Amino acid sequence: MNRLTFHGHATFEIVTHEGTRLVVDPFLTSNPKATIGADYFCDRLDYVLLTHGHFDHVEDAWRILSETGATLISSVEICAYAETVLGHENNHGLSIGGGHDFPFGRVKMTTAIHGGRLDAEGGDGYTCPPGGFLLHLGKTRLYLAGDTALTADMQFLEDRVDIAVLPIGDNFTMGPEDAARAANLIKPRTVIPCHYGTWPPIEQDPERFRSLVEPRSDVLVLAPGETHEFE
Ligand code: NI
Ligand code: MN
Repeated sequence: MNRLTFHGHATFEIVTHEGTRLVVDPFLTSNPKATIGADYFCDRLDYVLLTHGHFDHVEDAWRILSETGATLISSVEICAYAETVLGHENNHGLSIGGGHDFPFGRVKMTTAIHGGRLDAEGGDGYTCPPGGFLLHLGKTRLYLAGDTALTADMQFLEDRVDIAVLPIGDNFTMGPEDAARAANLIKPRTVIPCHYGTWPPIEQDPERFRSLVEPRSDVLVLAPGETHEFE
């Protein structure tokens, strides 16, 4: 089984069935909802995936990358920053719409409508297209939308996603109503809400989101530290 663990906000840990360990958007140090710190990933990690450059997605990425030597998978622009400014050696840049077959599975970068600033030391001048990820892991297609508005592009994901991780916080991303419309376009088996409840502007009731989505898709509300296993 593959394991998907939520660490609060938009941070997800994935351990694949054969033991490859990934983290998506590691935001732990300043994340009031996280139950772990960045040290949790520093002993062993294989891949860091970054949807975009905002602080609440990349805060702990650079330290984790330098301590583990993990491979960064992100936009070509964020990978260029990691290589040029940080001297990080293992980077695999993708452009929006492009994918690559990694040893653990396929990663495709998907569109997101959001901001492109890179909140990192020496990151001025790196304007980075925001995105999401469509992962093929074993039998499961896992879509992490990243920070995004509801987009018409989501209709192209119809019946191509088994589990969709969608932001519902509103203010910076889709709110519950738009995320429910996204779920209705994509038609995944399961929807996992994220990017809510971290700070007052993105306070949401996930049970209200559930009432907007079910029974078309199942809504799985993960508390920080909780794991969902899938094939
Ligand atoms: Ni953002
Ligand atoms: Mn964010």
